[in-house]
Amino acid sequence: MNIDFNEVRFCIHTFGCQMNKHDSERVVGMLEALGAMQVEAVEDADVVIFMTCCVREAADVRLRGQVNSMKNIPVRAGSPTGRRHVAIGGCIGQRDGEALVRELPNVDVVFGTMNLASLPRLIADAMNDGAAQVEVLEKSDDFPTSLPSHREKNWSAWLPITIGCNNFCSYCIVPYVRGREKSRPLEDIKKEARGLVLAGAKEITLLGQNVNSYGRDLYGEARFAEVLDAVHESGVRYLRFATSHPKDLNDQVIERIGSLERVAPALHLAVQSGSDRILKAMNRRYTAEHYLGLVDKVRAARPDIALSTDIIVGFPGETEEDFQATYDLVEAVGYTQVFTFIYSPREGTPAAKMPYDIPREVIQDRFDRLRDLVERKAWEANRLDQGKRIEVLVESVNRKDADAVSGRSPKNQNVHVSLPKGEDPESLVGSVVQAQVTDARPWFLRAEFAGVVER
Ligand code: SAH
Ligand code: SF4
Ligand code: F3S
Repeated sequence: MNIDFNEVRFCIHTFGCQMNKHDSERVVGMLEALGAMQVEAVEDADVVIFMTCCVREAADVRLRGQVNSMKNIPVRAGSPTGRRHVAIGGCIGQRDGEALVRELPNVDVVFGTMNLASLPRLIADAMNDGAAQVEVLEKSDDFPTSLPSHREKNWSAWLPITIGCNNFCSYCIVPYVRGREKSRPLEDIKKEARGLVLAGAKEITLLGQNVNSYGRDLYGEARFAEVLDAVHESGVRYLRFATSHPKDLNDQVIERIGSLERVAPALHLAVQSGSDRILKAMNRRYTAEHYLGLVDKVRAARPDIALSTDIIVGFPGETEEDFQATYDLVEAVGYTQVFTFIYSPREGTPAAKMPYDIPREVIQDRFDRLRDLVERKAWEANRLDQGKRIEVLVESVNRKDADAVSGRSPKNQNVHVSLPKGEDPESLVGSVVQAQVTDARPWFLRAEFAGVVER
């Protein structure tokens, strides 16, 4: 058999971080370039691709359940091979490789984070001869930006500037499944940014596990500030980046956050813990004091900045005192958004070998206390915008109210904007509008439409 991609329909399920989401855009772009058709429902697909994440255990468990459930879904009429093929990529593919086909007999293709470009060949081989195809590489030689990318929307785009990570935080599996940090040449980034803006991008989010260390591998020093200058020059309306490691957020970058007007006033600065003892055990290489100093500097440079963070609760050895230090830090900073994770041991990481004796109820109690604090602080921060007129980049028609649209403010708040009669919600998607904030909630703002800024 010789499979013709024009007859192949595929769907893709993506888990994990924006890196994976962007990799999925490349996968879709490649398969579409070959003639294959993307479909939404598994029922209609000949190939189901899972782009997986293993940063916490829950993601592992969920994937296994989903792959197993594929067996119960009937094959579509018109399937070119008479059966449904399952491909697993992303971080679990990279980590488990061959073992996945032994554990999950209905898996046909396993690929990793280093060889996206091989996927069409692996799918074709699996469809042609029926045997499972596994290919996982230790490292990739080039930055996968030459691959076509299918971006769902033209008004907002992710732009990877580094892949991989060198930090080896003691709890984290990412460096093992994404490899060493690799920066993309500045010229290449500039070119893609210009192209995106010409194609209508109003928002660009620069991506990397630690964007602040951009350039060390290429130029021997961190040059993220120059990336900001270069992409700012493209004229994009909102320039965002994720994520920043506190140990590498330098004065040049803070200066740009203050001086470049199109850098959006939002900074995600993962703190993980407020206890120096725990930060040390996490191998984060900064102290709570250093972190708070950065917060002060960033706020001095950009007083309206909204801060968000990641926190791990229940790291091995975390005492009530350590947790209290985290709690106090969250109280002091006043984040608009905090992603709180319960520590999940990942095999192969140093933290997984540390003795563990924190009872589940204690962790849950800390998690709940932190969540209540975060909600109170986020609400406080949002209330400052009550009555203000803000810009909103519209992302969708509101799910509950068909006469409203939803989007995000420059500070990255979710905003529900109600529309006057006659304004077509659908046609506003991708536009920037003015909105008058009428109600501030902990997790979103309600606002009234006050005109279009940019279609
Ligand atoms: N490179 C990013 C983080 C990527 S992982 C950064 O350093 O900011 C996203 C978040 O998942 C981390 O910030 C951390 O809070 C959380 N995380 C990573 N490994 C974890 C683990 N083993 N258990 C619980 N949370 C974890
Ligand atoms: Fe993981 Fe730390 Fe790298 Fe972030 S910086 S990806 S938390 S090792
Ligand atoms: Fe998950 Fe891999 Fe991202 S483990 S968080 S998808 S880098």
